[in-house]
Amino acid sequence: MQLSPQHCILLLLFLIRRTGLECHLVFIHCINLTHIESRPSRDNKEEYEFFISVDQASSKALDEVVDSLRTQISGQVHELSRNKQKDTVPWFPNDIQDLDRFANQILSYGSELDADHPGFTDPVYRARRKEFADIAYNYRHGQVIPCVDYTAEEKATWGTVFRELKTLYATHACREHNRVFPLLEKYCGYREDNIPQLEDISRYLQSCTGFRLRPVAGLLSSRDFLAGLAFRVFHSTQYIRHSSKPMYTPEPDICHELLGHVPLFADPSFAQFSQEIGLASLGAPDEFIEKLATVYWFTVEFGLCKEGDKVKAYGAGLLSSFGELQYCLTDKPKLLPFEPEKTCLQQYPITEFQPVYFVAESFEDAKEKVRKFASTIPRPFSVRYNAYTQRIEMLDNTQQLKNLADNISGEISILCTAMRKME
Ligand SMILES: [Fe+2]
Repeated sequence: MQLSPQHCILLLLFLIRRTGLECHLVFIHCINLTHIESRPSRDNKEEYEFFISVDQASSKALDEVVDSLRTQISGQVHELSRNKQKDTVPWFPNDIQDLDRFANQILSYGSELDADHPGFTDPVYRARRKEFADIAYNYRHGQVIPCVDYTAEEKATWGTVFRELKTLYATHACREHNRVFPLLEKYCGYREDNIPQLEDISRYLQSCTGFRLRPVAGLLSSRDFLAGLAFRVFHSTQYIRHSSKPMYTPEPDICHELLGHVPLFADPSFAQFSQEIGLASLGAPDEFIEKLATVYWFTVEFGLCKEGDKVKAYGAGLLSSFGELQYCLTDKPKLLPFEPEKTCLQQYPITEFQPVYFVAESFEDAKEKVRKFASTIPRPFSVRYNAYTQRIEMLDNTQQLKNLADNISGEISILCTAMRKME
C-alpha cells in the first residue's frame, strides 16, 4: 500500500505475539489505522505477529492506545518507531497528477514584470505575457500543450539567439548536447526561423528518456520545481524575452529552456541525474532543499564536465548565454571538482557571470555522488519512482521492499539471459 507523506508523520508499529488482536482499541481512540500486516511468529508457529501503522494522531491518543494494548496483552506490544515531531515531513506530490496542485504557485514573473524588466513599459509585450501565463494556468497534466503562433518579432528574437549560440556549440558544448542538437533540428523544428513548440519537444523527449515538458507561467519555488524532476517533468516557460534585448533576459524564457535545457534531457544519463536531484528533494527539510537547489544551480544550470583532457559546458544557463558560454571556458573563473557536500554550500551571484564553476567527471559519476548525498538527508523513508504507475513509492514497509526486490530480480534475469546469448 502506498502511504502518503502525512501518514508517515506519526508512524507507530506494534509487534504483537498473540493469536488474536483486539483492533477495536485503535478505533475507540479515533486513530486511523493505515497499514496492518500479519505473519507467523518465528518463535511459535501457533502464534502470529501483527505490524500496525497509524497516522495523524496526538501523542496523547497514541499513548492511550499503547497503554490499553499493553494492559490487555502485557509484554507483547512493542512500539518500534514514532515520529515525535508532527508535521516534520513537508507535503510532496505522490502522483504525477499532483503536479497540478502547485504548478500555478508562481513566485515571480508570470504576467507581472519588475520595473527594470526590458518589457516593463511595453503594453503589447505585457499583454502577450498574459496570454502565455493563461496557457500555463489553465494547463492540467495529460493535456496537449497548446500550440503558440509566434509573431514575426518573436521569431526574429529567437533567430538572433539561435544563430549566435549555434556558432559556439561545436567548441564549447558537451558531447551529449552536440549529439542531440541535430536530432532536435531534424524532429522538433529547431531552426533559426522557427520557434519549436513545447508539445512537439515534450513528445520527442518522452520517446528518448521519458522526460516531458509542462508549461509554467514563471518561477516556482525550489521545492516545487525540484519535485517535478522526480517525475521526469520539466516546468518550461513558453514566452520569449523582449525584442529590445535579444541577448539578455532577467528570467528563464523559451530560448533558455529550448537551447539550454532540452537537449540534455534527451540524454539518458543526464535525465537520470536530473531525476536523482528531484527524488532527493521529496519530503526533505527546508535546509536540504536549499542545498539541493544549489547543487542544481551548479550542475543543471551552470555545470561543466570533463571530456578527455578538455572541459565543456553542460549547464543550461551557459548553453543559452552567448557571453557566459565563452567566459566559462577561459582562465578567469575558478574551477572546482563537483562534490555535492561542498558544492551545496557555495554562494553564487544570480545577475552576473559565475566566479566559480564545478566540474563533473561524467554524468554517471555526478549521479552517484548525488545519490550518496541524498542518503544523508534526514527523512524517515527512501523513495523511488514507479514509471508504470507514475507514482512515487515510499520504501518504508516490507511489501514495498519485496516489490522492489522482485523488480530487480526480473531485470537481473533479463541481463543474465542477454549475456548468455551474447556468449
Ligand atoms: Fe534553467
